Amino acid sequence: MALIDKHKHVERNATLLFVLSFLVVTVGGIVEITPLFYLENTIEKVEGVRPYSPLEMEGRNIYIREGCYTCHSQMIRPMRDEVERYGHYSLAAESMYDHPFQWGSKRTGPDLARVGGRYSNEWHVDHLMAPQSVVPESVMPQYAFLMEKRIEPEFIADVLETNRTVGVPYTDEMIAEAKADFRAQANPDADTDALLERYPGAVVANFDGQPELTEMDALIAYLQVLGTMVDFSTFTPDASR
Ligand code: HEC
Repeated sequence: MALIDKHKHVERNATLLFVLSFLVVTVGGIVEITPLFYLENTIEKVEGVRPYSPLEMEGRNIYIREGCYTCHSQMIRPMRDEVERYGHYSLAAESMYDHPFQWGSKRTGPDLARVGGRYSNEWHVDHLMAPQSVVPESVMPQYAFLMEKRIEPEFIADVLETNRTVGVPYTDEMIAEAKADFRAQANPDADTDALLERYPGAVVANFDGQPELTEMDALIAYLQVLGTMVDFSTFTPDASR
């Protein structure tokens, strides 16, 4: 019997066709999925990527609470127009400590993956207070109330702890010092050596210019770190992948 005739037999017998299709899909599925359970990590580690400082983490939570992701993405795609506008395309490693990630799916406003360092803290305060004061045609809402909302590091150690549970490598020391680091980052007069050792490159400033620590401080601390952790002047993609 020629092979084609055997196949005819399979195609004409619905039960046999179902059983054989089921076997093919099962074996194929196992072959594809099983290796994933044995991989430590599917993301290439990249130098410079670190967990968020306590104040940046607070700002990130405000970003999520306010729904900034409904208008802003945080993922630069590897296409020429995007790279020319926003900078180096986003690496998977750059959002490996984001729980949940903020890639977004809508761009009413620009992508924010590399907005860190692009504007001064003062610009961010003016812009968040009233976006139309710096970009007259902006449709972005005003967030002036952030200036009045005081923050305390009461629960910040718990937030870091929670992130550690899902895999962010916060050390015992980072958690123990979370409250102090939270305050120090917004106080240019504080001794920030230890903070900067734990969180290299963190921007230390009185972000909102007020003596009180507010949600505005935290949100800007977060915006200023976005996309700045990896040094792209020395970064070379791992070609073996
Ligand atoms: C209704 C949509 C909308 C929401 C919600 C929104 N934005 Fe925007 N955003 C825009 C638009 C449009 C622009 C471009 C015009 C401008 O600069 O104001 C923009 C610009 C920006 C910029 C300047 C980016 C650049 O590269 O020039 C930053 C930073 C920013 N938004 C942060 C935020 C933050 C933080 C939040 C949440 C607190 C937020 N936005 C919420 C629409 C939005």
